[in-house]
Amino acid sequence: MSNAADLQLLVSPDREGNALLGRLRVPGDKSISHRSIMLGAIAEGETHISGFLEGADALATLSAFRRMGVEIEGPDRGEVRVRGVGLRGLKAPDGPLDVGNSGTSMRLLAGLLAGQAFTCTLIGDDSLTRRPMRRVTEPLRLMGARIATAEQGTAPLTIDPVPSLHGIDYAMPVASAQVKSSLLLAGLYAQGETCVSEPAPTRDHTERMLTGFGYSVRRNANRVCLTGGGRLIGARLQVPADISSAAFLLVGASIAAGSDLTLEGVGINPTRVGVINILRAMGADIELLDRRTAGGEPVADIRVRSAPLKGITIPVDQVPLAIDEFPALFVAAACASGETILTGAEELRVKESDRIQVMADGLNALGVSAEPRPDGIRIVGGPIGSGVVEAHGDHRIAMSFAIAGLRAAGPIEVHDCINVETSFPGFADLTASVGLPIRERRL
Ligand code: S3P
Repeated sequence: MSNAADLQLLVSPDREGNALLGRLRVPGDKSISHRSIMLGAIAEGETHISGFLEGADALATLSAFRRMGVEIEGPDRGEVRVRGVGLRGLKAPDGPLDVGNSGTSMRLLAGLLAGQAFTCTLIGDDSLTRRPMRRVTEPLRLMGARIATAEQGTAPLTIDPVPSLHGIDYAMPVASAQVKSSLLLAGLYAQGETCVSEPAPTRDHTERMLTGFGYSVRRNANRVCLTGGGRLIGARLQVPADISSAAFLLVGASIAAGSDLTLEGVGINPTRVGVINILRAMGADIELLDRRTAGGEPVADIRVRSAPLKGITIPVDQVPLAIDEFPALFVAAACASGETILTGAEELRVKESDRIQVMADGLNALGVSAEPRPDGIRIVGGPIGSGVVEAHGDHRIAMSFAIAGLRAAGPIEVHDCINVETSFPGFADLTASVGLPIRERRL
């Protein structure tokens, strides 16, 4: 089904090929942008954010906090000032908070709201309303939270105040940074210590940023703990460029002959670099230049040149480190020689769409052999045909198939792409500026 206000992406490759050339900076990191607003809002004093992602998901978090009484200036070209109200200063919003397509907003806010003295309801769009929320509501209830969900454990979530939360020691059954972060945010309001252990490393932006706001976080191997009742102090934060958005260009420049592209200031947090590790294992030519730190996060300029790719069996330990980049990596696999096999990635089925099925359908529609499996996919590299592909409202599917156009035999039309705005506003203009033969059709 198409969105009411649809956007289609049309990519028409040249017969001679289209190299991606030059330098660019992709928009700010989505995960870090969400957290910068959340922690800034409950800190004491002002937080100044630069490089904030002005995409619909992070803006949904921003407006949720405005509706809870937080004064926020901006965003103005990525600059945001948040006048923090302290841990206990949020106010009841005048109605449900609609976080649109954003799973991160809903799951992290569930934890933060569990500790407030008012009732609040979180709602989202159709895709978000289908996504599993028990993974946060169940452990939050163990902390004493009162949360009601729809029958399937899905949104809307209504969170009622309780006299107090108490810390728990929770071993997550799935490797999820959203669950971990939700519990740590609730833990700020809980009595005693909250500890979360993860079955595999997941993005640690919450832990790093809490430390940056002066909150003590204890980390040991796969376990993170904090004690409730402390304070956060407003900070200055620089949001790195989003490696998840850079991923489309890393794949694009790898598969388009003659490419030489540099992506500036990209976050290379070790919990996020699975896409680089996997592409390198496939033979990609990726260099990390001028490594530095910004806002407590490692960043680098990434230079990528085209290279012949070969299919691989993706190491299972890379799955959580590349969880959002698989749609783009599947396009790399389609352009590689031989077969690529992914296992241990059942989480992809509960993202903004069922990314295993939707990618397999789209690749098959373009003549690529892609066989979905319960926890992954098998893709055999080969020629990419032209045709129409459905993105099912999933931003990362849309951008992946647009990139596939670089190697297609003829034009590719990607339908139902409006949600590209959630994570990568300006995708078509920015990618066109380095050579992607793309245009938009707004309906
Ligand atoms: C995110 C964590 C990941 C990721 C999502 C953003 C975060 O989700 O897929 O896009 O910001 O914490 P899971 O925690 O469900 O793995």
